Amino acid sequence: MLVEGKNISFSYDGFSLALRDVAIKIEKGEFLVILGANGAGKSTLVKHFNALLPLEQGELRVAQIDLRDEKDIWLLRRLCGMVFQNPDNQFVSSTVEEDIAFGLENYEAPRDEIPERVRAALALVEMGGYEKRAPDTLSGGQKQRVALAGVLALEPEIIIFDEATAMLDPSGRQEVLAIMDKLHKAGKTIIAITHYVEEAVAADKVILMQKGRILACGSPEAILTDLDLMKAAELLPPLPVRLYHDLRQAGVHLKNCPLTNEELVKEIWQLKSKT
Ligand SMILES: Nc1ncnc2c1ncn2[C@@H]1O[C@H](COP(=O)(O)OP(=O)(O)OP(=O)(O)O)[C@@H](O)[C@H]1O
Ligand SMILES: [Mg+2]
Repeated sequence: MLVEGKNISFSYDGFSLALRDVAIKIEKGEFLVILGANGAGKSTLVKHFNALLPLEQGELRVAQIDLRDEKDIWLLRRLCGMVFQNPDNQFVSSTVEEDIAFGLENYEAPRDEIPERVRAALALVEMGGYEKRAPDTLSGGQKQRVALAGVLALEPEIIIFDEATAMLDPSGRQEVLAIMDKLHKAGKTIIAITHYVEEAVAADKVILMQKGRILACGSPEAILTDLDLMKAAELLPPLPVRLYHDLRQAGVHLKNCPLTNEELVKEIWQLKSKT
């Protein structure tokens, strides 16, 4: 198990709980999507994984590192990289290559390796050729890809995307999602927080959070098609799921509940071919 935690509770103000007795297990290579309404505790939970927030209560191990043990935090931050929502807040240097090199220097990567690692990271996110550009001259999608390159250069085991597609237009989102998929296929462990439920369809596992608790955990099929569960988490199921149920109410029974538009079209086509 790459991430294993139990009885995790956390409070920012010592009064209200942002996490309540959370238990979590994430396997190496898994693509996990965390869904939940605003304030459900998603960011608070993942910030525990790389010690951006201290473990106040409970147990947590990430990549064999015990989070109660402060001496390994530096290593943990390298092994568990995070990409955030706002791409503008993630740069410190005046050019793309300097920014990625800065991260590597911070983690004391051997000097002679740095240029090649910067190049390789930019190639992974298809941003080769942008080395000399100032980060603030890039588009939102390009900025997110450079921010991701900065994380990838450190050769992490786990990459956390905390609403990393939230501020992007549809094509920028697709770019970031495509890279997420590529990293997952290359064996990286991906944890993605999102408000776009359709981004959860391709996950290995979906976690629903509500009011600091984990409400449910399971396959996208099991979670996203369960109307009561989604309602309890204050979320709307993907459009094909809603249409499936609306059609049923209108007396049109599709054989299976579709999760994607393609599956919906197939279900409707099967219905048509039977009549
Ligand atoms: N820095 C902070 N100081 C005090 N309270 C905080 C802080 N950050 C979050 N909280 C509170 O902790 C709870 C969980 O917040 P968190 O940011 O983890 O939610 P989230 O699920 O990531 O929500 P969103 O979808 O809006 O990002 C909320 O009630 C929030 O107000
Ligand atoms: Mg959040």
